[in-house]
Amino acid sequence: MLTARIAVVVSGGGTNLQALIDAQTRGELKSGRISLVIADKDGVQAISRAGAAGIVCAVIPRKEPGFEEKVLSALETHKIDMVVLAGFLGIFSADLLRRFQGPMINIHPALIPSFCGKGFYGLRVHQAALDYGVKVTGATVHYVNEVADGGEIILQKAVDILPGDTPEILQRRVMEQAEWVLLPQAAELVAAQIVSKKESSI
Ligand code: GRF
Repeated sequence: MLTARIAVVVSGGGTNLQALIDAQTRGELKSGRISLVIADKDGVQAISRAGAAGIVCAVIPRKEPGFEEKVLSALETHKIDMVVLAGFLGIFSADLLRRFQGPMINIHPALIPSFCGKGFYGLRVHQAALDYGVKVTGATVHYVNEVADGGEIILQKAVDILPGDTPEILQRRVMEQAEWVLLPQAAELVAAQIVSKKESSI
């Protein structure tokens, strides 16, 4: 059966990568196959998650020269059809986005357009939501373009903020109730579009 070859780009704990791996194991990622993990620094837990799942993992340090060239080369070598940014803390240049022809999606831990854009990542997003006093937050999966968190929205899921929430408690709830649910669903939606294009071109 035709499937879309997926690369997942990570920077840290890899819990969103794990959600994708578990969805694939459960047969919920039927149109795609996680074929490559790219970690932008060594020693992060996402690398061991990829290893445990038997997925090829390339460590390409973001801080070293030629980062984007090496990423593009890895995507080409592994014949990647689509890229999923899962806890990736970098911002790819417009040049890379132009040169990689396939779709790229990202998970953001808020309901875009709230609490997003430059400087809004990790716990900072949840701290901003608590500081503002919103009663509902959540997560968004969107296409990646040259504007940080600016691409077309694919899926969103709301999560209640509860009395006594700290940024850490809220982050965990948003991950469990929204991120880890949405990202596999969005990856399957995009992969299915790729497969139907492949099938219609046969
Ligand atoms: C989390 O804050 C998540 O919301 C964001 O990146 C952080 C780490 O995610 N997307 P992960 O555990 O590395 O997937």
